[in-house]
Amino acid sequence: MGNNTVVVGCQWGDEGKGKIVDLLAADADIIARFQGGANAGHTIIVGDSKYVLHLIPSGIIQPGKTCVIGNGVVFDPDGFLEELEFLKGKGIDYKGRLFISPATNLVLPYHKLIDAVQEEARGTGSIGTTMRGIGPTYIDKVARHGIRMVDLFAPDRLKRRLEYQKVIKAQYLEGSTDERANIGAIYDRLLELAELFKPMVTDISLMLYNARREGKSVLFEGAQGSMLDVDLGTYPFATSSNTTTGGVLTGLGIGPKMIDEVVGVVKAYTTRVGAGPFPTELIDDTGEAIRCKGDEYGATTGRSRRCGWLDLVSLRHAMRINGVDSIAVTKLDVLDDLPEIKVCTKYELNGKVIDQVPLDLAELNHVKPIYETLPGWQSKTSGTTSMDDLPAVTREYLNFVASDLGVSIKLVSTGAKRDETILV
Ligand code: GDP
Ligand code: IMO
Ligand code: MG
Repeated sequence: MGNNTVVVGCQWGDEGKGKIVDLLAADADIIARFQGGANAGHTIIVGDSKYVLHLIPSGIIQPGKTCVIGNGVVFDPDGFLEELEFLKGKGIDYKGRLFISPATNLVLPYHKLIDAVQEEARGTGSIGTTMRGIGPTYIDKVARHGIRMVDLFAPDRLKRRLEYQKVIKAQYLEGSTDERANIGAIYDRLLELAELFKPMVTDISLMLYNARREGKSVLFEGAQGSMLDVDLGTYPFATSSNTTTGGVLTGLGIGPKMIDEVVGVVKAYTTRVGAGPFPTELIDDTGEAIRCKGDEYGATTGRSRRCGWLDLVSLRHAMRINGVDSIAVTKLDVLDDLPEIKVCTKYELNGKVIDQVPLDLAELNHVKPIYETLPGWQSKTSGTTSMDDLPAVTREYLNFVASDLGVSIKLVSTGAKRDETILV
């Protein structure tokens, strides 16, 4: 039987999932996205070529692999077409190996308009969303008035459902001169796209079920990170989907026994884009040095990422809620120059020391991190491909992290390129 592996981010996103998925995709037959949408920005670097994918699974770069987009994903039709163009320009042949669930909810222009209006209305409490219309699309899904891929093939129903948007979204759409509010134009555009998407739309649940029976392997590609999970993250400073392992089942229509292994991607330090609690954030020269060396700027929005030390307390939460078996530690090389490296092992909250996240994750705003200070290695690890070639101090850092989290290390990434990796 094949091995079905989940890859999830364990922090606030941008852990390097794209690189890890691309790497593991070499041994998989199918790569599946199960949640999120084009808010994701997954970077893959192979040789001199750089790819940033938002909606299309990162497995598409590996020749011949089948890539699927599950029902749990919110699907941006125009964003998807732009990505296809991008892939074409890079000489990637995706024909016949890219499939979409009929039950994906569509991100439509008015969702992006509403995303912007809602962010504005939140004022000082704004989330700092990616403005990709993600939240408003998931709202429609749960409220049961979303437009789904399958509606494109039933024009009358599509028209009816789009007309209904005018009623329920009157607050945003009525009298608006913004082209994104033009329901008639959206209807015409969707009908135009229907024939294009039709050959790609198929029963993903059944495809994965059959693949399992045939002994094939599936790689499940998470987007965002565990701390951005709508239920288990730093709500309301979160995204609108279940970014954790649980989302794999509902987002693809598969049973729990279809998962053999869970790999958590852990950046060797922490970053976060947008607003919300971040206990180990460094607003100082060290934070700036990490941002600079790690090139910590958003792959989707270009925003500068907030940087800080590794946070084992929130990582313990991520290990538990995802059922992580092993971790992929990324961006180790970014720490190469630092004289010392701090790791948060506990928090202090209201004079009490705690070693698990508080019941109310909003309290992460008030916790004081308690650090262990480990020696830096101050030598070059970038590009290293063998554990034996790492300085002893670096290996101690990795062992410290893995042993605290009670998981093994599956691989260590020492650079952005595919081959800058230590397979443990
Ligand atoms: P994702 O959203 O989790 O896929 O991560 P992003 O692609 O948004 O951000 C990770 C960034 O780090 C990208 O620019 C990658 O090319 C880069 N990257 C990944 N792994 C490593 C690594 O081990 N070292 C360095 N220096 N860069 C890395
Ligand atoms: P990848 O897959 C980092 C953040 C946004 C914002 C919050 C809500 O590349 O790791 P949304 O647009 O989803 O409503 O924004 O979530 N966010 C991400 N941060 N990486 C991502 O994806 C993210 N996707 C969303 O910055 O704080
Ligand atoms: Mg990213």
